[in-house]
Amino acid sequence: MKKYLAWCFALFLLVFCTGGCGKVKEEVQRKELYRAAAPVYDEKYITVGFIQTGKESDWRDANTNDYLDTFTEDRGYKLVYIDGNSDSGRQVKAAYDLVAQNVDYIIIDPIVEDGWEDVLEFAKQKEIPVIIADRGVSADPSLYKCWIGSDFKTEGIKAAKWLNDYLEESGRKDEDINIVLLEGTKGASAAIGRTEGLSGEIAKHKNWHILTSRCANFTQGEGRDVMEQVLNQHKDIDVVISENDNMMFGAMKAMEQAGMKYGAGGDIITMSFDALSEAFHMMKEGKLMVSVECNPLIAGIAEEVIQDLEQGREVGKIQYVKESVFTYKNAAQHIDNRKY
Ligand code: AHR
Repeated sequence: MKKYLAWCFALFLLVFCTGGCGKVKEEVQRKELYRAAAPVYDEKYITVGFIQTGKESDWRDANTNDYLDTFTEDRGYKLVYIDGNSDSGRQVKAAYDLVAQNVDYIIIDPIVEDGWEDVLEFAKQKEIPVIIADRGVSADPSLYKCWIGSDFKTEGIKAAKWLNDYLEESGRKDEDINIVLLEGTKGASAAIGRTEGLSGEIAKHKNWHILTSRCANFTQGEGRDVMEQVLNQHKDIDVVISENDNMMFGAMKAMEQAGMKYGAGGDIITMSFDALSEAFHMMKEGKLMVSVECNPLIAGIAEEVIQDLEQGREVGKIQYVKESVFTYKNAAQHIDNRKY
């Protein structure tokens, strides 16, 4: 019997080692493969991988420049910048690559909310902290350290409240108001939140009607094309709300081409989001009537988060940037102090 038990034990050890040790070996080999494929980052820097959406707007350029100015080598960082090229699949793949390269931190400005769960899980397994910035993700918040950005729904509400006040001041409170909405990229939290905020407020006014709501992907070119189509189909437009300044600049070109008078003193009320420098010039001229600010200067807050994590401190899960509302009436007094 003793002999039999000894054989059983030996057999158990054999099975355990070939199975268990095999797995360990596989993991080691995989890590070696990553290391072989990955660039070797200098240990004296904190390496930050940053995945941008693309170059769809001037807001985006301001946001990218902010990261390039913040995470510099003389400030102790190595920034690995990746342009998502307006392709969310490319963004996810870039995130896998950064995990494989074993960077110290990953910051993601996601194009759309969905599709991030698996790669965030992978980053968590590899203990690489991820910061989500600007737009949000629909993934479980335990998979990333924090989110930093704008309260997009509140931005939409602020825009609608401005319209309400403006119509009241101009004695048009009870008129039927026909609205054209130019939406940002489908599935992007900036578009989802602004549309939600606006729609909720619009629904409270029985005399406000959305004539049409069209996606123009946050770009100036599409803003112009979509507005041209809208103008071919609708003549009785009172308000154009564009979910960013650039789509509005494009829409303005289409309205000019169609001989429409817009802005303060015109027939169409013009409203947008971002409050870029160019928008301030348009507001000063009265072409744009309001721009609800979306603050692109997020990199400084991301850096504070990284420094806190370096020191082992807890960080706030949701961090909003500061934002205001600017109009054609107050643009002149702010225009010289704008940073973007
Ligand atoms: O996510 C922020 C939005 O994305 C900005 O409003 C827009 O201009 C940008 O492209």
